[in-house]
Amino acid sequence: MDKLVIQGGQQLNGEIRIAGAKNSALPIMAAALLTSDVVTIGNLPHLYDITTMLELLGCMGVESMVGEKLNVEINSGTIRKFNAPYELVKTMRASILVLGPMLSHYGEAQVALPGGCAIGSRPVNLHLAALKKMGADIQVESGYIHAHTRGSRLKGTHILMDVVTVTGTENVMMAATLADGQTIIENAAREPEVVDLARCLRAMGADVSGEGTGTITINGVDKLKGCEYPVMPDRIETGTYLIAAAATRGRIKVKDTWPNILDAVLSKLEETGAEINVGENWISLDMHGRRPRAVSLTTAPYPAFPTDMQAQFTALNTVAEGSGSITETVFENRFMHIHEMNRMGADLRVEGNTVIFRGVPRLKGAPVMATDLRASASLIIAGLVAEHETVVDRIYHIDRGYECIEEKLQLLGAKIRRLPS
Ligand code: EPZ
Repeated sequence: MDKLVIQGGQQLNGEIRIAGAKNSALPIMAAALLTSDVVTIGNLPHLYDITTMLELLGCMGVESMVGEKLNVEINSGTIRKFNAPYELVKTMRASILVLGPMLSHYGEAQVALPGGCAIGSRPVNLHLAALKKMGADIQVESGYIHAHTRGSRLKGTHILMDVVTVTGTENVMMAATLADGQTIIENAAREPEVVDLARCLRAMGADVSGEGTGTITINGVDKLKGCEYPVMPDRIETGTYLIAAAATRGRIKVKDTWPNILDAVLSKLEETGAEINVGENWISLDMHGRRPRAVSLTTAPYPAFPTDMQAQFTALNTVAEGSGSITETVFENRFMHIHEMNRMGADLRVEGNTVIFRGVPRLKGAPVMATDLRASASLIIAGLVAEHETVVDRIYHIDRGYECIEEKLQLLGAKIRRLPS
């Protein structure tokens, strides 16, 4: 397994470009199953998860081709089977996103039930309950979801989501675009990636409105067409690099990103003492060499502080001035990075779904192990601020969600290199 070796103590300084958003690209790639025309998707990040989604579509017979501008053309008109196998689903839970579009357009789908992962049990009960309410016949057996519409179309209906679920909202929204009648999704996820998907569906001819609010309305149409759509920039990658620059007391400018969807993160970074400036498609952060101040936070669905940036901000707080608490309300087990940071000399104490922390002047480099995508990013940030050498193992997690992470960090002055297994 590859490892990353980091010599800590370097301030991050410089400019980097932000890639397309993984969590917008994945549902948009699945949406290509809603039409037999070619869907061309631009600004795709070069990540394992994107490759996995192309592999998943490919094993169903859906052809894809990389265009000259590194966009991807997906043609689901060649689909020959409606099965998403466990071998692929187990490597990427977001594979569940093919369920809604495949069922709604082709009337059937067999999708392996995604297991849990390091951060939680990650059930998909709300996805299935909603599709059942739309008239689908859904049986779960031998680890697979067997879904059928029994030869008729899904029916538009009123769906109230018990819990705000991002991919649950996306699955239902996609299924509803070809359903018979109107679907209203209450307690819908408001994440920017849901909004990006809605915009792409509209470009395909779908009748969708209300995205970005808690109530999304979809009026089913008979057919959707192909389109060309560039995915939005990755707000989590953006926040990760801003937090890393703040933790190392440096200064950074992140380009090709959207500042207006990071309010919760930018205001927390300003609380640490960072000077933040924004332009139309860039954000700059300057710590002026100062140690960050400790900042408490609580994660919650958008527009609150994102759970996908909790681990990264925890890394910043380990070396901040003062003490505080970090509460995780979205996932039940998103503290796997805490124990690894304590091995580096951090002062973190877990009490239920809250971490009580006291900032220490510096961490000590150590061999650590990544457990999930965002925990990996947080351990890299910890390594950047620690003295001496940190070796982060199991970094296949990081390659799923961060494009060329060591190259981008090297561009910013970090002493980091990949140790091939
Ligand atoms: C999406 O996951 C993201 N993944 C996650 O990003 C992100 O952490 C999460 O949303 C929350 O923002 C993608 O978009 C591909 P949820 P998702 O359904 O949709 C419970 C990353 O690091 N729930 O919003 O799977 C669930 O247990 C990844 O890029 C049910 O109970 O998350 C959790 O407690 C990690 N039943 C809460 O809802 C369901 O049927 C939110 O989960 C579905 C969800």
